[in-house]
Amino acid sequence: MTLERVCQATVHAHLILRATPASSTACAPYPNSPPRPRPWPSTCSEQPAACKNKLRRCLRLLRSLFIALSANRAGRAFAERSALGGRLSRRFVAGLTVEDAIAAAAQLNAEGLDVSLDALGESVLDPAQAEQSAAVYHQLLDAIAARGLRANVSLKLTQMGLDIPGRVTGPALTERLVGELVEHAARTGNFVRIDMEGSAYTSATIALTERLHARCPGAVGTVLQAYLHRTEADADRLLGQGIRIRLCKGAYQEPAGIAFAAKADVDANFCKLMKRMAASGVFCGIATHDEAIIAAMCAWVAEQGIDKRAFEFQMLYGIRRDLQRRLVAQGFGVRVYVPFGPAWYPYFMRRLAERPANVLFLARNLLKR
Ligand code: FDA
Repeated sequence: MTLERVCQATVHAHLILRATPASSTACAPYPNSPPRPRPWPSTCSEQPAACKNKLRRCLRLLRSLFIALSANRAGRAFAERSALGGRLSRRFVAGLTVEDAIAAAAQLNAEGLDVSLDALGESVLDPAQAEQSAAVYHQLLDAIAARGLRANVSLKLTQMGLDIPGRVTGPALTERLVGELVEHAARTGNFVRIDMEGSAYTSATIALTERLHARCPGAVGTVLQAYLHRTEADADRLLGQGIRIRLCKGAYQEPAGIAFAAKADVDANFCKLMKRMAASGVFCGIATHDEAIIAAMCAWVAEQGIDKRAFEFQMLYGIRRDLQRRLVAQGFGVRVYVPFGPAWYPYFMRRLAERPANVLFLARNLLKR
């Protein structure tokens, strides 16, 4: 599919999205800002139901396309070398260097926001490159301690060599590198979050987190994805051990047999699990930009008398800055996930997959060139 077709599909989807009242999920809508009905777009000549079906197909297609592109090595090599690609990625990526990331973290801290720093990288197949990725994280942990920043780090296991062929090499190297980072974090009073990748890595990620937590309790946690059927059982197991969880909806393409296909089901599972986590006594991260879910959470903790600081909201750098600041003003903890570094392509493609309207931003920038 050409970029032009992608943009056309996106414009159509965007117009319908703008006309569709904000979907109320399994959670109640935001009490202070009820969804406003919007006029159906004059460019859409079809009946709303037919149009909505088209929209769903369009969005599914775009999501699959961008997720497939995120794993395309040739596209990645090309994009990450291009100056234009670098410029576009700045929408979601804080910069290229450790210094850029530390400066962004200091700025966010000054605004009352906590941070998790992600030195972007994944699918690393060269052991030397995996060692290099770990070295950047050691540098980050030292810089955070030296500057007294309210920041921890997030990393991916395939960035630390998990995919390197050879049964022993990949997993053993990964365990050593991540283990050393978790020990470093424990020494400096910090925390390592192991991001969750596609379902091929779920079991390995959870198992490694459990082993490292047993060695350095409280210095490591992981991420669970509400779209997976297995997540409820995983959450109970991790909470039972006192392991900190970041709950997100999930950013990869997963087969229907293991994941909820309908967004409403993913949202309902998210709502159920976020409440369980907030009430668990384990400090968890509720990672979403979904305003209806966030509102439902705020209302629910008030109702239950749960401390606003018993959990934190987490959002991505550059997305819903207004909402991040509003929650801080209301006394909630908010952590911003700040990615940086030259290996930005897969992360950037997943952000486009989540919100096709972001392609319009991309297209506008291409036209400006
Ligand atoms: P949803 O997709 O329903 O979007 C709700 C609203 O949020 C949208 O209407 C829009 O306003 C806004 N929004 C969402 N995405 C946007 C975007 N890209 N650009 C602009 N606006 C956007 N996933 C994973 O599989 N493993 C992981 O380790 C992580 N880690 C992680 C950390 C943090 C801090 C966050 C916030 C998210 C993740 N994710 C993740 C990604 C997550 O799984 C999910 O894909 C995105 O957060 C988008 O889902 P929402 O919950 O925001 O809701």
